[in-house]
Amino acid sequence: MLSWDEFDTEEAVKETARQDAISAAQTKAAAPVAQPTQAQVAQAQAAQVSAAADAQAVNTAFAAAAKEAGISPELAKARASLAALDPAPGLQELEMGAARIQVDEKRMINCRADLNQLVPFKYDWAWQKYLDGCSNHWMPQEVNMTADIATWKSKDGLTDDERRIVMRSLGYFSTADSLVANNLVLAIYRLITNPECRQYILRQSFEEAIHTHAYQYCIESLGMDEGEIFNMYRELPSVANKAAWSLKHTQTLGDPTFTTGTPETDQELLRNLVAFYVVTEGIFFYCGFSQILSMGRRNKMTGVAEQFQYILRDESMHLNFGIDVINQIKLENPHLWTAEFQQEVIQMILEGTELEIQYARDSMPRGVLGMNAAMMEEYLHFIANRRCAQVGLKEQFPGAQNPFPWMSEIMDLRKEKNFFETRVIEYQTGGALSWD
Ligand SMILES: [Fe+2]
Ligand SMILES: [Fe+2]
Repeated sequence: MLSWDEFDTEEAVKETARQDAISAAQTKAAAPVAQPTQAQVAQAQAAQVSAAADAQAVNTAFAAAAKEAGISPELAKARASLAALDPAPGLQELEMGAARIQVDEKRMINCRADLNQLVPFKYDWAWQKYLDGCSNHWMPQEVNMTADIATWKSKDGLTDDERRIVMRSLGYFSTADSLVANNLVLAIYRLITNPECRQYILRQSFEEAIHTHAYQYCIESLGMDEGEIFNMYRELPSVANKAAWSLKHTQTLGDPTFTTGTPETDQELLRNLVAFYVVTEGIFFYCGFSQILSMGRRNKMTGVAEQFQYILRDESMHLNFGIDVINQIKLENPHLWTAEFQQEVIQMILEGTELEIQYARDSMPRGVLGMNAAMMEEYLHFIANRRCAQVGLKEQFPGAQNPFPWMSEIMDLRKEKNFFETRVIEYQTGGALSWD
């Protein structure tokens, strides 16, 4: 009859031998380096032979027991391993047997409650954004690029200035969404200690992957030089400056040893959220988006424009989520939002606005598509005012007006009201599957 105790004994013998080998190795490593004597070499070889013999003996024991039980040796090993599983180490931080989670214990940062339990919800806005993001799901291949390919390949399809805008936009965005995605999963995710917000961050991360896919799809469809496009964030100053500014703000949090818990480190997390949600996604995307969407409104590059339209809709939700996160952290930790720190946030928003204006001038040296750099500057001042107001700060450009009101209309589009009316696929968003 098969007895698991025998496996446990075998495992215990093996474990003791392993521990002995580890401590022997550690002692040896700590000792001064010396050439082994012939006797030591012989001893080591004998030990190797003996270890191999031990392993062989254990395998033979498994094989015999497995045969008796009528199962494979691999399955016998798997069962023995599970029988020895101790659940305590994996759940150490969870206080086994502690009281169930109460909503009031949930916090945006530095929360010690169990993060594996999604409910009960505290931040309904975060869960609602997760649901909205899912119901807006789309994929780049659904968009027909045929007309764009013809326009791009035709000598007279676009002016040089229009081509410049398409190239610059794809140059910036093809890597920008990777910067955002990497910041989400490698820096922010572990520091936001709330499951419903993490659920949205996971959804957003996938959307960033779709966006990068969409840019790659445009670049490939149009037969562009991908090396030139994907390297603009390192080679072309107006694009590289924006990317460098974002990257600068992910470095500290990207260090795996970084943790929050002091006013200084909590403020560092807030700086990152401002840099990515408010400035990168909330300012750096707006010149390129409005240029490409203006092109689509003039019936040029409608496939690229449609991709950008879906991306913009996603991005406006990312921005709103980030604003809600920042404001919630402020609410729960008012001591972080000092006058000095507010000044720093204003400074960051102004730096981002300046960089985006420089990008507008570089991508639009002359008037094109019913816009010019001066109008874009006005638009970016209007956007910067919005960003300041959204996080409770004073507007920095009083009286700035929106010269492109159609941008807000596009952002507010619901999926059934399609701007270009070319979309054919609607995703099933739950509840309607039939198993008959
Ligand atoms: Fe994105
Ligand atoms: Fe985004």
